This record gives sequence, structure tokens and C-alpha cells, in this order.
Amino acid sequence: MADRSDRTRLIASATRRGLGRRPVSPPVERASTLLNDAPGAMRDESAGPVYGIEDLSAARELRAALADLEGGADAWLVPSGLAAVTVPLTALLRPGDSVLATDALYGPSRRFLNRHLKARGIDSAFHAPGAGVDDILAALTDRTRLLLIESPASLTFEMLDVPALAAACRARGVLTVMDNTWAAGLAFRPLTHGVDVSVQAVTKYVGGHSDLLMGSIAVADPAVARQIGETIEDLGWRVSPDDAWLALRGLRTLPLRYAEQARSALSVAEWLQTRPEVAEVLYPALPGAPGHDLWGRDYAGAASIFGVVMRGGSETAAHALMSTLELFGLGYSWGGFESLITHETGQLAFRRSPPTLAGELLRLHVGLEDPADLIADLERGLAAWRAAS
Ligand SMILES: Cc1ncc(COP(=O)(O)O)c(C=O)c1O
Repeated sequence: MADRSDRTRLIASATRRGLGRRPVSPPVERASTLLNDAPGAMRDESAGPVYGIEDLSAARELRAALADLEGGADAWLVPSGLAAVTVPLTALLRPGDSVLATDALYGPSRRFLNRHLKARGIDSAFHAPGAGVDDILAALTDRTRLLLIESPASLTFEMLDVPALAAACRARGVLTVMDNTWAAGLAFRPLTHGVDVSVQAVTKYVGGHSDLLMGSIAVADPAVARQIGETIEDLGWRVSPDDAWLALRGLRTLPLRYAEQARSALSVAEWLQTRPEVAEVLYPALPGAPGHDLWGRDYAGAASIFGVVMRGGSETAAHALMSTLELFGLGYSWGGFESLITHETGQLAFRRSPPTLAGELLRLHVGLEDPADLIADLERGLAAWRAAS
């Protein structure tokens, strides 16, 4: 099936033959305990999971579909996107090791490095967001065991040359883990570019409906896969059968939602770019935006989330804009069907070297609404911004 397109493969896995008469979607099996007919069958793993902590049918189907999508030997499910970042680091790092990551790393991932890993003798260094390959390689030390890649990065959306970084790290024996949530496993496939571990917050585009939390971890190399699988087993983590079922449902329509939302996001971003209140739109899919060349070279699509740097302004003006909007919810996530807006200027202070921006930083997530209606909503928001500035 590998030669078929993503949208075909994600759906065709539901209609495969030889499984007898059954519903199209697997049942939601809620179980801790699985019963057996005879004592001799109780440990027979060929008959399926022996206890509920092993994945039941929806989770198994979801894992297989995600592994196929990512081009991985296996894909694991964990209870959040954050756990998808923290599990590989827990599995692959030892006291005395060091991690290198972008200074624009997703906040809670950064907290994990600075608090949890530091307390266990693993320290972290941060490179400039959007740094070139040579600068990043120059920041590796003989203790750097792992490069944690996030591209585009959080909030300011800088791109990295991931294929070149993956190749150079491999040559130096440095492992690479990439938070690939922005590409949703679709627009960019880290494993096929030589990255060791590809993680994503299934919470976002795969779930797609803002009603579940989950992460996935896909790995190509069997030795790395074994280490990660054992860590998940040791930690005793699993996902809820209901959430696995919802994520599997979301996965069937992922390519269509992702592409449509990107189309809308681009038209909203293009419009914002023409506005005098806006200094810059940080969206790699936007021609002329930072990172557009790398995006054009490596990516087959885009997420529908971007940063908007306003011209000057204040928190009061940003709040006036946000309060006026009717179609953009005030909420901290993305990848769902609904548009969202957040004010992010304060978050930049957590970086080692906060960037100097021309004004307040907003983050927009564009959902499945009509982009013309979203633009009309933003037009009103900008009027409120002007009145409050
Ligand atoms: C880039 C990135 N990675 C990981 C996560 C974490 O996902 P979750 O909310 O499922 O923990 C997020 C959440 O916003 C994110 O933006």
C-alpha cells in the first residue's frame, strides 16, 4: 500500500478484507481485565493482549496507521503530546549527557529539560531559533547525546534544515528527536530524512476536534524502538480506549482538514500582511516569510497556525483586539476545527535570548470556518486595536 497516497492509505486500512463481518470502525473496548476460556490460554500472547494495559483494538489500529504514515517500524501512543517529547528523552539519555534544543522550544518541553532532566544530571543548551546547520553543529559538545528539533519552532515559527542536521548528527553519533506536530506526520516525514525519533501531539491535527489529549512516537531503528518501547512499559503508560477511538476517527479525515485549513490560513496570513497594524506574519508557508525557502524545499503542506507581530501596541490593545473577535476562540491549542487566538508576548521572556520584535506577538490558529468570515472578524478586531492603541 506504500505507493498509494496518504488519504487513500488512511481510509483503506479500515476496509481491508479477511476480518469477517464487522463495523467499519473497531469497537471501543473498555477493559482492564480480559477473560480467558482455560488456564492454559491465559498467557498466550498470540491470542491478543492478556491485560488492558496492552493496547486494545482501536489503539492497535491507530498505532499501525501512524507507523505507516510516519514510515516507522512502530509508533507508540502516550497520554499527551508533551509525553511524546518526554518519553524518548527519558529513554535515550543518561546522567552526564547533554541535550541541545532551539531557544524557541515549546514551553513545557523546555520546562522538562530545565527541571526534570537537570535534576537527574542531564543538562541542556539552547541554540538560536532558525540557526544555520554550522552554528548548531558548533554548539554540540562531546557530552551532547541528543538534538531535540522543533521546526517550525513554537510561537515564532523559525525553520531548521532538518535533513542536513539529521545527517550531520548521525555522523557524530548524536541522536535526533523531532517534535513534528506542525507537520502532523503528513507534510514532513522526519524518519525518511534521517531523524531517529518523530513525535507529534495527536491532540492537534490528528484528533482534530479539540476533544482529546494524546501523543505519538514513531521510530525507524529497531534498537531505538526497543529502548522507547521498554520505557513506556516501565512507566506503565497507556491511552484511554475512547481517546484512541476518537483519534482513529480523526485520522481518516486528517489530510483533507489539514489541507483545507492551510489554504484558509494562507489567505488570512496574506491579508494580515497587507495591514498597516501588522509588522510581520511568521508563517513559513507565506512567500517572503522567514523560513519560506526551507519550507518550500522540504514540506508538502503546512499547518494553519502562525505568529503575527503587530506594529507596536500594548497588552491592552492586544486584549481589545481579542475581546472583539467573535469567531476566534481564546484558547491554548491548535489543530482543531475552530479558529483560536492567543497573546504570546509574555512567553518570549522565558527564552535565553528573547527576540526583539516590532510589537506585540499574537498567535492565530485558523480552523475550518470560511476565511472570508475570519477576515471580516479580524477587520473588526484591528479596529478595536487601533481604538485602544
Ligand atoms: C509544538 C508542540 N508540541 C507538543 C505539544 C504538547 O501537546 P499536548 O497538549 O498534547 O501535551 C504542543 C501543545 O501545544 C505543541 O504546541
